[in-house]
Amino acid sequence: MPVITNIDDLKRIYERRVPRMFYDYAESGSWTEQTFRDNSSDFADIRLRQRVAIDMTGRSTASRMIGQDVTMPVALAPVGLTGMQCADGEIKAARAAEKFGVPYTLSTMSICSIEDVAEHTSKPFWLQVYTLKDDDFMQRLFDRAKAAKCSAAVITVDLQLLGQRHKDLKNGLSAPPKLTVKSVANMMTKVQWGLGMLGTKRRFFGNIVGHAKGVKDPSSLGNWTNESFDQALDWDRIREFRKMWEGPLIIKGILDVRDAREALNVGADAIIVSNHGGRQLDGALSSIRVLEEIVEAVGDKIEVHLDSGIRSGQDVLKALAMGARGTYIGRAYIYGLGAMGEDGVTRALEVIHKELDLSMGLCGVTDVKKLTRDHLLIPEDFAGRWA
Ligand code: GLV
Repeated sequence: MPVITNIDDLKRIYERRVPRMFYDYAESGSWTEQTFRDNSSDFADIRLRQRVAIDMTGRSTASRMIGQDVTMPVALAPVGLTGMQCADGEIKAARAAEKFGVPYTLSTMSICSIEDVAEHTSKPFWLQVYTLKDDDFMQRLFDRAKAAKCSAAVITVDLQLLGQRHKDLKNGLSAPPKLTVKSVANMMTKVQWGLGMLGTKRRFFGNIVGHAKGVKDPSSLGNWTNESFDQALDWDRIREFRKMWEGPLIIKGILDVRDAREALNVGADAIIVSNHGGRQLDGALSSIRVLEEIVEAVGDKIEVHLDSGIRSGQDVLKALAMGARGTYIGRAYIYGLGAMGEDGVTRALEVIHKELDLSMGLCGVTDVKKLTRDHLLIPEDFAGRWA
């Protein structure tokens, strides 16, 4: 058993074990990948303020996200095709999250269906919802989430169109994977992955196949989004979704103060400051750079969460200290899942928890809810002067 001390250790094993097509899918940003890179490197520009001789006993990372208790304010983000990274991946990730005491967010583009994940878990999870043109599908999606006792809906508003990720086009990304000479040759070297896939019947988009009308080829993300996603989406349409779903509502994909105010006006319970992990508009600012401005504008009226770029507990600490009430990891747990299944997701959560707890202690903080900007050293022009 390898000694895993950080998220990069999991990433190295993940890269060896999972077919290239799915590794590339997770590890890509759109176009030049500038935003994808900035998401992490901007975190690295922020430093921590060391304090000493402060009683650091009895530390706690426990907090609440949208009123729900969490072991640490780090949820698992929705990630499309998770069940292609590892057989039954969504069920395994959801189980690891529930044991750890953090929320799991199931993607609409998952391989395991809502019902399947509900059947194999014992605590409510959150459902991420894409905004499709088909009203019946949308209503049924919310009804299915309610029947499965999902405790929040997360509406993604930054993917009316799919950003172009060059490698996915070159690899012919699909679920299940298309069997070309190249993909088969690569998959033959991924024995553990292949055995897992042979042993499961979950290899298609579980929430779509059999539920969405007139979708010709849901195996390809590109075709499916082009045909079905609502490019005409506006805030009135989001208001309609608010009516379809009575439970807690989170709006994901906010980078601008004006959009944060709109989300507040439609009655969301939280927003996620996010650029979709750098997978949508390349050239957009990193989430961490825009966080403070958004917190200042709406943070006293709505919970502000952050995703995109978090690979360590120190990144979590920085986001919380800058005003986020919750954070999300995507790639960081996918590395764990692809490397070693449910145990790998648990390991990723343990790594992040330990880094958060230790760093809090060394900054002289015992309660995660008491982190403030004073615990950080932020370059004066961090938010940038953009005209
Ligand atoms: C889907 O959300 C993706 O980013 O591929």
